[in-house]
Amino acid sequence: MSKMWAGITAGITDPVADDFNSSIRFDSRMFRQDIQGSIAHAAMLTARGILTEREGKVLSESLAGILKDLEAGSLRLDLSCEDIHTFVEQELTRRIGDTGKKLHTARSRNDQVALDLRMYLREECDEIAALTKTLIVALTNQAEAHKASIMPGYTHLQRAQPVSFGHHLMAYVMMLLRDLDRISDCKKRMNISPIGCCALAGTTYDTDRRMEAELLGFDDISLNSMDGVSDRDFALELLSVLSIEMMHLSRLSEELILWASWEFQFIELSDAYTTGSSIMPQKRNADMAELVRGKTGRVFGDLMGLLTVLKGLPLAYNKDMQEDKESVFDACDTVKMCLKVFTPMLATMKVRTDNMFRAAQTGFINATDLADYLVRKGLPFRNAYKLSGQIVARCLAEGQVLETLPLEIYREFSPLFDEDLYGEIDLKTCVRKRISEGGTSEASVEKQIAYVRTVLNND
Ligand code: ARG
Repeated sequence: MSKMWAGITAGITDPVADDFNSSIRFDSRMFRQDIQGSIAHAAMLTARGILTEREGKVLSESLAGILKDLEAGSLRLDLSCEDIHTFVEQELTRRIGDTGKKLHTARSRNDQVALDLRMYLREECDEIAALTKTLIVALTNQAEAHKASIMPGYTHLQRAQPVSFGHHLMAYVMMLLRDLDRISDCKKRMNISPIGCCALAGTTYDTDRRMEAELLGFDDISLNSMDGVSDRDFALELLSVLSIEMMHLSRLSEELILWASWEFQFIELSDAYTTGSSIMPQKRNADMAELVRGKTGRVFGDLMGLLTVLKGLPLAYNKDMQEDKESVFDACDTVKMCLKVFTPMLATMKVRTDNMFRAAQTGFINATDLADYLVRKGLPFRNAYKLSGQIVARCLAEGQVLETLPLEIYREFSPLFDEDLYGEIDLKTCVRKRISEGGTSEASVEKQIAYVRTVLNND
């Protein structure tokens, strides 16, 4: 087949090379953006008198018709076309003849593809942000239900200090809020129009890039035509943002997998999100969480892939850049899929507060509070810390925990100990008293929840 770019070459390639060169299989998903971009381009060319009113009208009506037919499924893609841009122009010319061939005046596929990708990805940003919000809502609701459910908080995966499960979940909500912020920040730089940069150097036609940008909902235009056609930072930024978000989901997945294990039994995932084993009937595997954790590697790969594609490219457009789409599309698809399964899985998760509390009771996680008790009675913290350590050792030797060790024994260590000690090292007190801003007290968790809800409502 003869190519739209047949010039000094014959425009006929080996079928294998043709297939290799073609991107329509993966760029056809941008057909809407491509056509919207062309409609705006026709309008701008008409406004500047580069096309006649009549030509502008025929072009925009015909483009709208192609869009409608593609959406309805009555127009099939011609996969022998090199890319979606070629297909739309070919179909346009088939419908309206020579006027169709005028559309490509004062533009190039180089600025066209950059435009389409920015338009496509800004919609993805909105979708991913909306899905992230649903996850934030699900997590915040669980946090509210468990703002007073005590569990061991860990460092080094060793029981450290008591926290509420709600507080633990809100930590993830904070991460996701930052993800939302990063998405909207990345969208700002994405929403800059490259159309009108043409092949690389701009054009001799008297175009109006700002009009075209405005018609397409962009905030501004790229100020250097060579940068406009070569820049894929917006795709890299989105991939970075998505990698970070996946890293968050992966950390939470890891915790869910642990918590759902027989050893922890802190949570039960609903049957709808749990799989069995083909040979071990007792199994309840947290496959969804494992897959999210696994798919994180895939999104990181997408980021590394595109960074590597771009790192050695001279200005301006190079065909290597066609490789931008599959990675960024794959990352968007993956993140959306993960969020769609994660949110209902978390919303339906049952929390075994009894097991959490039991685990909190036996790990000496109130040892810091014991030290703080002595500090309040006048002992310097370092001494109090040492004494608490010796008391924990004594408990271990006696088969006791801090709550059950008799007062006589405490007094052997220090005369500062009194009956009120037991109230102070009660796990509920330990959590309730952590009222420092951002701490695990119920009041603080409530404050966090209120903050998150205001942020979401104001969005
Ligand atoms: N299919 C190409 C891409 O995705 C479109 C731009 C082609 N431009 C060119 N000069 N060959 O990057």
